[in-house]
Amino acid sequence: MIPINLPLIGEEEIEAVVKVMRSGPLTSALGVGPMVTQFEKNFAAFAGVKHAVAVNTGTAALHAAVVAAGVKQGDEVILPSFTFVATAEAVVLAGGKPVFTDIDPETYNISPEAIEKNVTEKTRAIVPVDLYGFSVDIKAIKKISSEHDLAVVEDAAQAHGATYAGKPAGFFADAACWSLYASKNITTGEGGVVTTESDEVAETLRLIRTHGEKVKYASLMLGYNYRMSEIQAAIGLVQLEKLSNFVAKRRENAKKLNSLLEASNRLKLPMELEERQHSWYLYTVRLENAVGKERNKIVEELQKKGIGAVAYYVNPVHQMPYYRETYGERKLPETEKAARQVFSLPVHPGVSEAQVNYIGKTLLELL
Ligand SMILES: Cc1ncc(COP(=O)(O)O)c(C=O)c1O
Repeated sequence: MIPINLPLIGEEEIEAVVKVMRSGPLTSALGVGPMVTQFEKNFAAFAGVKHAVAVNTGTAALHAAVVAAGVKQGDEVILPSFTFVATAEAVVLAGGKPVFTDIDPETYNISPEAIEKNVTEKTRAIVPVDLYGFSVDIKAIKKISSEHDLAVVEDAAQAHGATYAGKPAGFFADAACWSLYASKNITTGEGGVVTTESDEVAETLRLIRTHGEKVKYASLMLGYNYRMSEIQAAIGLVQLEKLSNFVAKRRENAKKLNSLLEASNRLKLPMELEERQHSWYLYTVRLENAVGKERNKIVEELQKKGIGAVAYYVNPVHQMPYYRETYGERKLPETEKAARQVFSLPVHPGVSEAQVNYIGKTLLELL
């Protein structure tokens, strides 16, 4: 099976881990051992901003960032439903009320027009998601946020290597949250990072990461244990160096798939713009005018032929039992339609040219 994603770990990562294991420290009580410190410095440089705060998952990054953005009990937070559930969890854990908002059918990202319609007196923040690794229209979102004095926490969990107007994804947001989960463009097994230009937000994030402490046993606010270990940071330092090559290979595979799949009149291919370069975390196509379970059938057939195609996200968050029961029914027509029609194909750096050809040819035959 050609998996949809694959962590690419080399001897360099293994050596880096062994070195930490032999000499320690393994972690630091206040969150910043030498590896984490260096990783944060390098990650901030990659993201083009002043601060990177490393944590232990992308979910922790989102939760900490939503709290640091000032979301409090009862505040409304605008976010897409067409995302991984962690985006919504972060809002709820912070005490906020998720206001699920429809997507732009061209990009699958939250629609700025739909955001505008959902702003109320109670809105405190917007959490847009760079879905599949394609940057949100951050300038349009920032325009709305400045008019209404809202914080923007960008979920860049899938966007390592994506750009917007020549800058890394997340650059224009108040804070951006990254995941280093094993499937992502770069990984530390589990891990996350928040990047921000703001000294104040970074300071709060560091407190939240370690029990609200700046000094041991003197909590200044409610915190958690969201620390990244030295072992994770050692892996991350090596992976970060490999990121641009990884993304280049993804781009090459995506381009090749585009050229093959253009031959089909049933498929809508993924969008990429000169000023919004894709991270190609997920190469996602849409089976236009799909009826019934046609999309699922194609995904099943691809899997039977050894191609790890996956449909993300078949259940948009607003339709998941917990969210529907807690926040009520909501109609999001573009989200619901996309959830029935999209599926993703493997383009990770471990996919060879011959495999890309096989994926393209097989899909065209099935269609
Ligand atoms: C869009 C999105 N948000 C948040 C997360 C959560 O990250 P993690 O799995 O590292 O907690 C993920 C990845 O899993 C994701 O894809």
